[in-house]
Amino acid sequence: MNRKILIGVAWPYANSPLHLGHLAGAYIPPDIFARYHRLRGNDVLMVSGSDTHGTPITITAEQLGVRPEDVVQRYHESFVQSLHGLGVSFDLFTHTNTENHWEVTTNLFLRLLERDYIYKASMKALYCPVDRRFLPDRYVEGTCPFCGYEDARGDQCDRCGKPLDALELIAPRCKFCGTTPEVRETEHFFLDLEQFNEPLKEWVADKDYWRPNVRNFTMNLLREGLHGRAISRDIDWGIPIPVEGYADKRIYVWFDAVIGYLSASIEWARNRGTPEAWHEWWDADSEALSYYFVGKDNIFFHTLIWPAMLMGNGGLQLPHDVPANEYLTLEGRKISSSRNWAVWAPDYLSRYDPDPLRYTLTVHAPETSDSDFSWQDFLDRNNNELVGTWGNLAHRMLTFAGKHFDGAVPTPGSFTDLDQEILRTAEEAFGTVAQDLEACRFRAAISKVMGVAREANRYLDAAAPWKLLKSDRERAATATYVALNVVDSLKVLFAPFLPFSSQRLHEYLGYDGDILGEQNALEFQENDHKHLALTYEHTLEGDLWVPSQLPAGQALRKPQPLFRKLDDSIVEEEIARLHQAAEE
Ligand code: MF3
Ligand code: ZN
Repeated sequence: MNRKILIGVAWPYANSPLHLGHLAGAYIPPDIFARYHRLRGNDVLMVSGSDTHGTPITITAEQLGVRPEDVVQRYHESFVQSLHGLGVSFDLFTHTNTENHWEVTTNLFLRLLERDYIYKASMKALYCPVDRRFLPDRYVEGTCPFCGYEDARGDQCDRCGKPLDALELIAPRCKFCGTTPEVRETEHFFLDLEQFNEPLKEWVADKDYWRPNVRNFTMNLLREGLHGRAISRDIDWGIPIPVEGYADKRIYVWFDAVIGYLSASIEWARNRGTPEAWHEWWDADSEALSYYFVGKDNIFFHTLIWPAMLMGNGGLQLPHDVPANEYLTLEGRKISSSRNWAVWAPDYLSRYDPDPLRYTLTVHAPETSDSDFSWQDFLDRNNNELVGTWGNLAHRMLTFAGKHFDGAVPTPGSFTDLDQEILRTAEEAFGTVAQDLEACRFRAAISKVMGVAREANRYLDAAAPWKLLKSDRERAATATYVALNVVDSLKVLFAPFLPFSSQRLHEYLGYDGDILGEQNALEFQENDHKHLALTYEHTLEGDLWVPSQLPAGQALRKPQPLFRKLDDSIVEEEIARLHQAAEE
């Protein structure tokens, strides 16, 4: 039975390019998950898009002296290119500035209002007398009342991750002029979270499979009790409030962004000419499971706010899991866009291949604690593990069979214990790696797969078919057959993690077409406002997550190395590049 898997991926703010922190935290893991499930023949719907509203965008626009639309356009295109380059296979990567998204958001807002989950109230907010404007969210900075961090923003503390109300900041200051703001009254719409405290507690109660950090963070907030939260802002960029008399206010960016998961699913269904198809992943009574991949600073919105909104709407699937990640540091330091301490995806892709990055970021996935990316480690992993262990194994066997067995998979004789053992190791990995992948333990999964590649090298050293070509050709043929089959199995096991090299290997091994089935393509498609959207088409039927079935006699193709060895000098170069960019 194929399962329906909805994969929601955090919507990046369209105000800077993607960097390695984003990729490790939110974009590479769901792609591994999606590719694995597609290989199993499950129906994956993976959606996200650019988060285009709110103060993150307007602040950048003001700093650059351009319109918010221009900022959105620039970075949305950048995301689409980077995600494409990294092989992140979204069924749809759209943005929140589409007619469809505005409509879905407006309808959900009105439905919650009608059901009394949204109420109006006057509230105190910070106002800058110099700039003569209210200072929502990121327009104000100050000291976090929970952890004492001095540069906390009005919406959230970047150090302790707590959601904040700007009024709670100690010593608040206007982001633009540094003035201490005044407190003034203003009217806003609120999501009545108090009504959801009990239902949310009940819902979370059986989520014992959630990552401990996600579960604890969520339970703590529920223990303290949620209160009404403003979902409109004094700002002129965003989705209008669908109620008369609020022309100078907009819907809060977080309220509309989480709705993106639903609106993107609807857009995807419409684009395919099957406008009702999204229901299969969303209806509460369907068997579908939904997973949301986000960074740790987004937990609150995905385990509490969005579920509350879904409960309020009724009839829709709640998240099954939110495997949020901790942070990735870079060369031992916190990644920072403002201080320009970051490796940017477009820059990385201009010099290196995608698979080595996908590999390194997965080996160091910050699943349970923060982890670090360093160029030295990247180089070592590439040269020792991808080139040395895995690439070399595959290349060695393909060229050996090419040269000594007429470029085809040789016909084996009977298997020895040694042969049986490595074939069994590869076969068993399909079970154990699948368990890890199903549970979103990507780090554990990839180390098991690389472990099999290591075993395969040991097997080959012991079987040494090159020594037997003259003395015992049948034995040499058998060992070659076995090794090629293990390589073919490893190709499948590695495919979710290393899609580009696995696809090439698939072809070297003599297969045609896409490893994930027919007619796959990551393509661009035009969308509202002439933005490009990234879409992935796949039509796989059946379970391809199975050990090799490479038959004797299959013609092999002339291989190129799967990975490039990198020169030691890149480490110093890249570190110098980082420091130089940070100083500019
Ligand atoms: N734009 C937010 C960020 O970068 C994430 C939004 S995720 C969504 O932190 F669920 F709201 F879409
Ligand atoms: Zn804090």
